[in-house]
Amino acid sequence: MCRDLHGLEPFGYLGEQEVGRAQAPSCLKRRTSQLEVVRPHNMEEVASLVKEKDFFRHLKEQQYAGATNLDARAQLHEQFSQNRRGFHAWIFDNLLQRAGTRLLELGCGPGYLWRDNLRRVPSDWEVTLTDFSPGMLAEIRGVVANAGAQFELLNCDAQSLPFPSGVFHTVIANHMLYHLRDIGEGIEEISRVLGPQGVVVASTNGADHMLEVRELVHSLSDDIIFGSADIRGSITQFFSRENGAEVLGHRFMRVHWHDFEDALLVTEVDPLIRYILSVPGNVRKVFAVEEMYSKLHRAISDRIERDGAFRITKSAGLFIASMT
Ligand SMILES: C[S@@+](CC[C@H](N)C(=O)[O-])C[C@H]1O[C@@H](n2cnc3c(N)ncnc32)[C@H](O)[C@@H]1O
Repeated sequence: MCRDLHGLEPFGYLGEQEVGRAQAPSCLKRRTSQLEVVRPHNMEEVASLVKEKDFFRHLKEQQYAGATNLDARAQLHEQFSQNRRGFHAWIFDNLLQRAGTRLLELGCGPGYLWRDNLRRVPSDWEVTLTDFSPGMLAEIRGVVANAGAQFELLNCDAQSLPFPSGVFHTVIANHMLYHLRDIGEGIEEISRVLGPQGVVVASTNGADHMLEVRELVHSLSDDIIFGSADIRGSITQFFSRENGAEVLGHRFMRVHWHDFEDALLVTEVDPLIRYILSVPGNVRKVFAVEEMYSKLHRAISDRIERDGAFRITKSAGLFIASMT
């Protein structure tokens, strides 16, 4: 018997079994320091390229078509995070509060950063919010409608920015650089649109982020693919707490990591299930089977009953990078 999975939008990249297994086609593997392109030379690589193209279409048109999946994840953090400052308020604390700032955000999503800090935005800032998903921009319109500062929304790909060089003081790229087809190219674009005194603020996760949830989900079945919807493998390999300094260091002189200390103490089952079902992979398919859903529900409620709360590691923070 199948369940209605909390009304989440249909999800299921062709990946299912292939998602976690496939490797980046070697013709697309580029080091950020030496951006050479090698042409595909056999049918296997051509097939990989087609799959990769499908994957990016899926990312834009399904996972990030609207805010449903992100909202399920954000709600878990909002409800059960122990650091009461809140991640987005803390990110704003880390922005340079300079007069007349021209700021660009890449992959802004539904605008959580602005929703949580709208009153703090100086009225002389010019803020350009961009995302490659029109659905995300539709969500953000209401958020900034009554803002004092000047906001502009633009649908574009972070790897091909329709701005002249050197026009921004700050570029924000929160939890999105790991999605880029070619992160080296993306970082070149960021540095191009920044002025010489410009600053990049880029948040991401570390390898241990939500570790206990991954362990729990994997303990329930050998066939589960949880998280790694990127056909190139785990997204953290591209831009994470562990390797982000090296990635940004190819283009920026100074790079500093700022840790956001936090953990989740989850005391309710349903918000965690909603989180799990919002994550890319094949979880929706697996837990659509009643027996599997019951196993998941029981495993979480047993843990909460045993320990008083399900404790989940968080590993997140941001890099601040500049040329000077
Ligand atoms: C994990 S969400 C983060 C949203 C927001 N920055 C935040 O931290 O709440 C990733 C966002 O990046 C966007 N995105 C992914 N790849 C992109 C690209 N190549 N160009 C522009 N936006 C992209 C997605 O549509 C999505 O809104």
